[in-house]
Amino acid sequence: MRIRRKAWARPELAQCPFNIDQPTEYIGHWAEVFPKKQPLHLELGCGKGVFTACQGKKHPEFNLIAIDIKSDILGVAKRNIEEIYGDEPVDNIRLFAYDIERILEVMNDKDQFDRIFINFCNPWPKKKHKKKRLTYPRQLEHYKTFLKKDGEIWFKTDDDELFEESLDYFKDCGFTFTYLTRDLHNSDFSDNVITEHERMFSEQGIPIKFLIAKLDPTFPLRVFNDVERVDPQHVDVLASSDGRPLELVDAGKIIRPVSEKNKASALGRALQEHCGLRFYTNDSKLSEIPFYPVPVMELLFHDDQGNYFGYDGENGPIVCVNVASRCCRVAETYADFLELILFHPRWRQLLSLSQHNGRNIPEVIGEERALVPWQEELEKELKLCWKADSLQKMRDCLMKSSGYVIYPDLERAKKDKHFL
Ligand SMILES: C[S@@+](CC[C@H](N)C(=O)[O-])C[C@H]1O[C@@H](n2cnc3c(N)ncnc32)[C@H](O)[C@@H]1O
Repeated sequence: MRIRRKAWARPELAQCPFNIDQPTEYIGHWAEVFPKKQPLHLELGCGKGVFTACQGKKHPEFNLIAIDIKSDILGVAKRNIEEIYGDEPVDNIRLFAYDIERILEVMNDKDQFDRIFINFCNPWPKKKHKKKRLTYPRQLEHYKTFLKKDGEIWFKTDDDELFEESLDYFKDCGFTFTYLTRDLHNSDFSDNVITEHERMFSEQGIPIKFLIAKLDPTFPLRVFNDVERVDPQHVDVLASSDGRPLELVDAGKIIRPVSEKNKASALGRALQEHCGLRFYTNDSKLSEIPFYPVPVMELLFHDDQGNYFGYDGENGPIVCVNVASRCCRVAETYADFLELILFHPRWRQLLSLSQHNGRNIPEVIGEERALVPWQEELEKELKLCWKADSLQKMRDCLMKSSGYVIYPDLERAKKDKHFL
């Protein structure tokens, strides 16, 4: 949504008692920003705040946090809320400006939300932009961090394609639907609060699509029984149940920069930026690793979604274990793994699918049968990219961004006394 610059917005927000200036300071403590302790709701992309104001006023029994990326629009939201609340204090709403793609910088698993509203988020129709959608699986996985186990996501939109594709996103991330309509205003749903975009689209005669999604408690887990849980406050070494310390292998030993030491972090940064993975270097402290029941494996990467990637046994294969102890084999070799994460836009979905049904990614890729609606398309994409010329592209891209020399195998690298 385009909005003209509003010079008054920031100064007004700075003075506003229900605006939060430094949201990162409240990570893990959002329940405490309200005078009354009551169920916590979150609105993502609140825009001009018409919904925020009406929902907050209609439901004083809930606390509502509303986020938008633009301060200018949040200034309008602030004025709308003040207008609708009139003389009443705005006790149950808090606003702040932040990029929701980086929501895990401001919210964590100590923030337990009962409900998340996503109203008319940008549809991002172009293929290359779809990952910016607020319902994209990467985002849904983020929300799972702070959504209560029986919490709900309420999602509505005017956009058919966004809605239909979001149905798959939700299912792939382990949600089921407790309510679903493709024409909200002619449905039996009675607790709807109209947003500014909803008014505009329904006046144009466009039906509003709406769903309520909940996490499916039967979404199967594959649990490692042989891994002992370690007190997260006292993680010095991660241990397996037979008492052996978990060996943590620095990536510095596995991936070596060509010449300078600090090149390791250049590759790390490239992977972090492009794939959201935190790369292990010699500088990492074990105490910085969030607690996780990692089975015995050599750790290569972890990401902010609680997935750990590492070698299972000597020199692979590469496996992934997620925060629920679901495990799958991701690739046979490190090169295959890099190829997957760099070239496959939906590798995370593939990962969660594999963890979900207990199969390994190479098996899932090799399957003829369509497992999920996008499987066929996925296979086509993978067949295209799982081949030598894409590997070449990957090499070029990595070498450009990190200054690494990339070898096809360890032997060739050893000859040159380098390895990647
Ligand atoms: C189409 S408007 C919808 C506004 C309102 N929810 C409604 O239904 O009328 C989408 C809003 O989401 C915000 N938005 C888009 N991407 C965002 C992001 N990554 N982080 C925070 N807000 C975002 C935009 O600034 C915009 O205000």
